[in-house]
Amino acid sequence: NLTAKFPTIVAAQTRIGMGKEPVDPDPHLGHAANYYYMLTGQVPDDTTLRTFESTLMLYAEHETNASTFACRVVTGTLSDFYSAVVAGIGAIKGPLHGGAIDDAMKMFIEIGSTDKASSYVDEALSAKQLLSGFGHRVYRAGDPRATELRGMAEALGMIVGERRWFDIAVACEQRMKETKGIIPNVDYYAAIVLYQLGFPLGLMTNVVASARIAGWSAHILEQYENN
Ligand code: COA
Repeated sequence: NLTAKFPTIVAAQTRIGMGKEPVDPDPHLGHAANYYYMLTGQVPDDTTLRTFESTLMLYAEHETNASTFACRVVTGTLSDFYSAVVAGIGAIKGPLHGGAIDDAMKMFIEIGSTDKASSYVDEALSAKQLLSGFGHRVYRAGDPRATELRGMAEALGMIVGERRWFDIAVACEQRMKETKGIIPNVDYYAAIVLYQLGFPLGLMTNVVASARIAGWSAHILEQYENN
């Protein structure tokens, strides 16, 4: 139920924010196609659909990450299902967790061109700033989701005729690897994928949350079963 309703809420909220009317879901479309349709008013073509659906799947579940842990903590008090989900939302919006996807795209936009990437990374590191979309508490040798999303971001860039974001991301990735040895996480290339699919800045973390609702729900049910 929540997996179906989250995208409806996110899409309607986004359209209202842009001064547009919400689009009703179409019961003939699948989950990802409907999400895209409610947001843009258009049925996605095959490439768009496959790319968006894969992105949602890659975000759907990821074991005991911070937001899922928050859901389990609230469930552990025998509070209700919806309160547990609200805790998950509160945790995922943080910039060190799902909030990193919007911040990563903001960073690429701020850098603006490939030739500025290295100096941007150097200056951020010397100022002890965190670069969004890099690093992971668990994946030290690479985030397998990032590998998939990197390929998708590159392919999409070629289709839409705009390689700039991908090239900036690759240049920052190289510099970060040389200087600090830190590699991209899931949010890094997902930011470019969602942006190139037409999702606006500020919405991407909501897309992540509306995919992760599947995993959160499974963990909440498991916690209730054996608290
Ligand atoms: N940008 C710059 N430096 C970073 C960094 C980043 N994104 N991630 C880690 N580092 C630095 C740390 O500051 C630390 O530096 P130090 O040794 O000089 O003190 C060093 O790299 C080792 O950090 P590490 O132990 O690997 O990180 P962590 O496990 O404490 O933190 C994250 C993991 C995910 C919280 C952290 O990498 C981060 O904040 N990333 C940016 C936010 C993000 O993308 N979140 C989404 C995660 S899926």
